[in-house]
Amino acid sequence: MSVAQASSEVLAVHGGPPVRETLLPYGRQSIDDSDIQAVVETLRSDWLTTGPKVAEFEEALAAWVGAKYAVSFSSGTAALHAAAFAAGLQPGDEAITSPLTFAATANCVLYQGATPVFADVLEDTLNLDPDLVAARINAHTKAILPVDYAGHPADLNSFLQLAERHGLIVIEDACHALGAEYRGRRVGSLAHMTVFSFHPVKHLTTGEGGMVTTDNPAFAETLRCFRNHGISSDARRRQSAGQWHYEMVLLGFNYRLTDIACALGLQQLKKLVANLERRRQIATRYATELRNIAGVLPPHTRADVNPAWHLYPIRLDLPRLSAGRGEIFKALRAENIGVNVHYIPVHRHLYYRDRFGYHGGECPVAEAAYECLISLPMFHGMSDGDLADVILALGKVLAHFER
Ligand SMILES: Cc1ncc(COP(=O)(O)O)c(C=O)c1O
Repeated sequence: MSVAQASSEVLAVHGGPPVRETLLPYGRQSIDDSDIQAVVETLRSDWLTTGPKVAEFEEALAAWVGAKYAVSFSSGTAALHAAAFAAGLQPGDEAITSPLTFAATANCVLYQGATPVFADVLEDTLNLDPDLVAARINAHTKAILPVDYAGHPADLNSFLQLAERHGLIVIEDACHALGAEYRGRRVGSLAHMTVFSFHPVKHLTTGEGGMVTTDNPAFAETLRCFRNHGISSDARRRQSAGQWHYEMVLLGFNYRLTDIACALGLQQLKKLVANLERRRQIATRYATELRNIAGVLPPHTRADVNPAWHLYPIRLDLPRLSAGRGEIFKALRAENIGVNVHYIPVHRHLYYRDRFGYHGGECPVAEAAYECLISLPMFHGMSDGDLADVILALGKVLAHFER
């Protein structure tokens, strides 16, 4: 079916035939036989939890992003918590972050008893605005937590300069951005600490899992200790050398990633370059096709980055459409296109409203963007046919609602 033919069809939401028979999700993992084999081998080995695969995966990921150290965690959220701890966040401190993110970015500050402060995002990339961050720095500020929204790196140089000037720590939430490049360098080697997630919709998966990369040996040591109940790894080494004594030196958690998960991660890492390439192909194709569809604005890419395209968030040009985002979202879902919305701004969640008294209007750019954002399906396992279905459905739905 051509876009022109599809446009004249009755929308599925109005009882017409859907563009697809089955739902295309917005993201999903790709697991092949080599992944299964790697996991099975580990299941048959002597190690299920912390064994040789953990260090192997950490070393391989550190080398891949160009960082000195990588410390694995049971999730991206646990990794964020550990980074907030290693940065020394405590009650009375503030960390400035983006409202347009998954709640975990700000929650990790709360886990430490510190206060997240939201600065608004830039209109083009929807990443944290460095000027607004600068305006919010005060004597309590200890960290800046930029988010690489959708896989587009935040303006790291500006944040690192601010950090240098004010003695702050930059924790980059790169849960969307494994493989993204900023000014020719891979994300993971730039901020004081960089956090990744290996949730199934990400570029590489371990089921659940996360990692912090850093060049700072003291941060790396604290991160390792924190993920293992606060037991110092020095003491662990002494113990394995034949001494029974070990020391818990801080209040940590069990945030360890298993050998099983790391075996999967190592195997997935081998396919990361190809996965990124495919995501970039899909993004290019979307950008080309969206030029022919009225009422939609593709995501903006700045000249000094190469995004990793975790998400493909479009903005609806609502004044050109006779329906709101909710209606268009529903119509696309009825066509079996698994669109999603990223994100409800964090300060608009009930918990944050109740606790901090946010009533809306605090971050107008993020709030306005949220009203018109829709994430199109984006994952490396998407076929050209899947991609064509998304374009067809989007053209069909928006043509119907064009003013
Ligand atoms: C920006 C961002 N930060 C943090 C996380 C938390 O990662 P995880 O789901 O691995 O805990 C996510 C998860 O999707 C995320 O998108």
